[in-house]
Amino acid sequence: MNGNILIDGVTVPFNEGQSIMDAALAARIYIPHLCHHPAFKPHGSCRLCCVTANGRSVAACTTPAVDGMEVDNETHELTTQRRLLLKMLFVEGNHVCPACEKSGACQLQAVAYHCGMLAPEFVHFYPKRSVDASHPDFIIDFNRCILCELCVRASRDHDRKSVFSISGRGIDAHLTVNTRSGRLGDSTFSAGDRAARICPVGAILPKHHGYDTPIGQRLYDRAPISEVGDANRQGSDDE
Ligand code: SF4
Ligand code: FES
Repeated sequence: MNGNILIDGVTVPFNEGQSIMDAALAARIYIPHLCHHPAFKPHGSCRLCCVTANGRSVAACTTPAVDGMEVDNETHELTTQRRLLLKMLFVEGNHVCPACEKSGACQLQAVAYHCGMLAPEFVHFYPKRSVDASHPDFIIDFNRCILCELCVRASRDHDRKSVFSISGRGIDAHLTVNTRSGRLGDSTFSAGDRAARICPVGAILPKHHGYDTPIGQRLYDRAPISEVGDANRQGSDDE
């Protein structure tokens, strides 16, 4: 059934089967998110998109829109909650924004700015993670992976290659490459793959193109993520 929902008091139409996130994206209303991409099945893991719908806290990406639903998105409480989640993501990995090639085009960095995260709050874990530079055209810097599983879904559901998977649970969860050696260079991963252009952070990066777009001129340097949306929905990481 088609209908309307209210997001922060704004009437937003939806079609049958759409989630709150789908309706918001179609109406160009920004609900913070990291693991969602409209081309792939919702995953519901980052919890950044949690909103209040008819008084209940729900993930916008996995909750179907229902006619008359009243959704709170940009509230002080939800922004505080999102900031906490983001601060935890930053300490779980090694995110060194000033030295990262993805700076200015990174969704994690951009969402953190959107939510007003200006300083760390928790003690950094400084996990020991590696960099895989075995592929001729791409590197994987596992230090920056936020386990959104977008590359897993893109490689499996779009590229039909299943190059990636997530192994382990909880604090031990990590991205793995599905080859005997575990190295990207021994996989069928290639530059034309959808998975090569899906990572919201700087974990999967092309070689040979570092700093083609100077820092300061990248997507989120020019406009906040709430206005321009996801870099990887626009076909390029930093245009
Ligand atoms: Fe997500 Fe990137 Fe990690 Fe893949 S490498 S799970 S796309 S953060
Ligand atoms: Fe909804 Fe990640 S975007 S849980």
